[in-house]
Amino acid sequence: MAIFMTLALVASTDSAGLSTAFYSSSCPKLFSTVKPIVQSAINKNPRMGACLLRLFFHDCFVNGCDASLLLDDAPNFIGEKNVPPNKNSACGFEVIDQIKSAVERVCPGRVSCADIVAIAARDTVGILGGPKWEVQLGRLDARATNPIIANISIPTSKASLNELILRFSGAALNQRDLVALSGAHTLGQAQCYNFRKRIYNEDNINNDFAEQGRAKCPKTPGSGDAILASIDAETPTVFDNSYYKNLVQKKGPLHSDQQLFSGGQTDSLVKTYSESQESFFMDFVIAMLKMGSINPLIGPPFGEVRVICRRINPLF
Ligand code: HEM
Repeated sequence: MAIFMTLALVASTDSAGLSTAFYSSSCPKLFSTVKPIVQSAINKNPRMGACLLRLFFHDCFVNGCDASLLLDDAPNFIGEKNVPPNKNSACGFEVIDQIKSAVERVCPGRVSCADIVAIAARDTVGILGGPKWEVQLGRLDARATNPIIANISIPTSKASLNELILRFSGAALNQRDLVALSGAHTLGQAQCYNFRKRIYNEDNINNDFAEQGRAKCPKTPGSGDAILASIDAETPTVFDNSYYKNLVQKKGPLHSDQQLFSGGQTDSLVKTYSESQESFFMDFVIAMLKMGSINPLIGPPFGEVRVICRRINPLF
């Protein structure tokens, strides 16, 4: 069922100072410029939607959604791309570059890279069958990165339920947000090194599912580490609630995912979402809006609208 969310509380400006109408006069063609590029990137490579959605999460969890993730390493400048969990894993940067170039052509110097990441994530979800919503905008781009925080704040596949709850509460996101946002794992793929321990060493896993995983991912660490498996084995390129159905059947390939349904306080919500795609979609939108409002940069002197998403603007 197609859901278009127009939550009354987010109709225009949110408590973080972001607004759905931010570019309505400064860049009226913004949305019609971004969406076809996201669509065509997904048409070329169906996994690209997963990449774009994940970029938003990995950007927002490190000092807020400020496009710090997009900055390349340079002499005397360490970015966030090459620290775990981004290194050899985060993807979609070229598509953001493509969108930014197109947006610069229609409204030069107006639209931040941070907002482009937010719009691309939103468009991805809608294109792949998920809910549609109005996105809050008006963020600026950072002039600095924080690789150490990136390494600490973004949870890994080893995380326990308590750790996940802690990391999300550090970003002012509650347990409901955690469970709803994790539903993003209805899309995309994970590398063998991220699910090896689960398929070889854990008990709370469906036997046939573990067997299928073992056929792909060798037991010995270091061999086949980068071999990919879909996180949602059922419908990896459709944004639906099958992720939760999988968890209920103990078919989550990541330890961190299965933690959400392992006898703890989030079990009942996983069950609810597995039975009601509508509830999942509603809560996912709310949580995406909350995640998008983490600590936004909305004024100088620390923020800017970058000309190229991979580099801070030159000072002169
Ligand atoms: C709850 C804590 C989370 C943990 C521990 C986690 C961990 C992971 C891991 C380990 C992977 C596989 C990476 C690889 O093997 O290269 C992954 C992939 C992914 N994650 Fe998460 N994630 C979390 C939350 C989120 C959230 C909140 C989103 C977005 C809203 C998200 C979106 C994705 C997507 C779409 C993929 C697939 C990417 C691809 O195919 O390239 N994740 N995540």
